[in-house]
Amino acid sequence: MEEGQIPPLSFMDKLNIGGIPLTGHVVLGPMAGVTSLAYREFMKPFGVALSYSEMISDCGLSYHNKKTLDYAKTSHIDRPVGLQLFGFDIRNTAQAIEILEAHADYDILDLNFGCPVQKVTKTGAGSAWMKRPLDLYQYVRMVVTKSHKPVTAKLRLGWDSTHINIQEIAPALEEAGVKMITVHARTAVQAYSGKPDFHQIAHLGSQLSIPLCVSGDIFTPEDALNAMKIADASLVMVARGGLGNPELVTNIENAIEGKPCLPPPSIAKDAEYALRFSQMLRKEKGEHEAVLILRGLLPHFFTGFPGYKKIRAELSVNPHSFDDLQKLLLGIRDRNHL
Ligand SMILES: Cc1cc2nc3c(=O)[nH]c(=O)nc-3n(C[C@H](O)[C@H](O)[C@H](O)COP(=O)(O)O)c2cc1C
Repeated sequence: MEEGQIPPLSFMDKLNIGGIPLTGHVVLGPMAGVTSLAYREFMKPFGVALSYSEMISDCGLSYHNKKTLDYAKTSHIDRPVGLQLFGFDIRNTAQAIEILEAHADYDILDLNFGCPVQKVTKTGAGSAWMKRPLDLYQYVRMVVTKSHKPVTAKLRLGWDSTHINIQEIAPALEEAGVKMITVHARTAVQAYSGKPDFHQIAHLGSQLSIPLCVSGDIFTPEDALNAMKIADASLVMVARGGLGNPELVTNIENAIEGKPCLPPPSIAKDAEYALRFSQMLRKEKGEHEAVLILRGLLPHFFTGFPGYKKIRAELSVNPHSFDDLQKLLLGIRDRNHL
């Protein structure tokens, strides 16, 4: 580079979403049934720069369904936080935005254009929008006009391998006023099978002025760096990889900043994490619902440790009360402290 020349801005530096600054590069991805307020609060101290709620039905909100509004609960800990809506009709979405703005405290409104589940796509919502790009742009423009919060969007590569259209859709959504785009680098038809293909979004981040976030099989810091480099993305989304492995968030941020990984946690430390998360979830959901959810989530904390199968069987079948569950976790922790 010539002397005096200003170096080009690195794609990693785009860390502002419509005026909301981010302090890191790792986004906690929305996961239905998982990314409760308690989960977001538990994950935050590991270095989450931005959290998302699970997808919230705009119809559920506009029918004043109490459970639906519960998904929009936030706190001062999980900030900045985006609430994610899914819908198919701007009238419902507009009403849902009014309800969120009146009753929820949040920073960003996210639109789900990636859900592949048939119950959702058959209504025209989720990834079905990617089959109708012109309608999608009009919908997004109307949402951007309606929302007083910055709007972001989460998409896939396209509907199927013969209709990959993310490279056209992403710049058009920026034009429509979206302030950050996340791409899960699979098609809707793939759902969660096969491998994500980040080459389909090669350099997309450099073609946008807004930040790009990449998603799909991010299980290690290498996965994160690889996906970000291919796509020129400034952000990376941790979803399944963070289940039972909260230090993944820290390790990815460290890798981006050129710092070493944390030493792998001991089983006792993971039992401590599992206990902490369990207590937070019980506080949010109450004992009965928390136990049901925890039976599904806690085994993830022990993946890869010797005796995993036995631990998984114990945690997913035996606990009928929070006390049972806590005793099991304390047992794992204390046995392994010796
Ligand atoms: C159980 C589960 C629920 C999900 N729910 C949502 C959701 O509500 N909204 C959304 O945009 N993506 C959702 N996703 C997709 C994730 O946010 C992420 O994009 C996807 O899992 C790919 O990342 P990963 O392979 O690193 O997990 C969900 C994924 C899983 C596994």
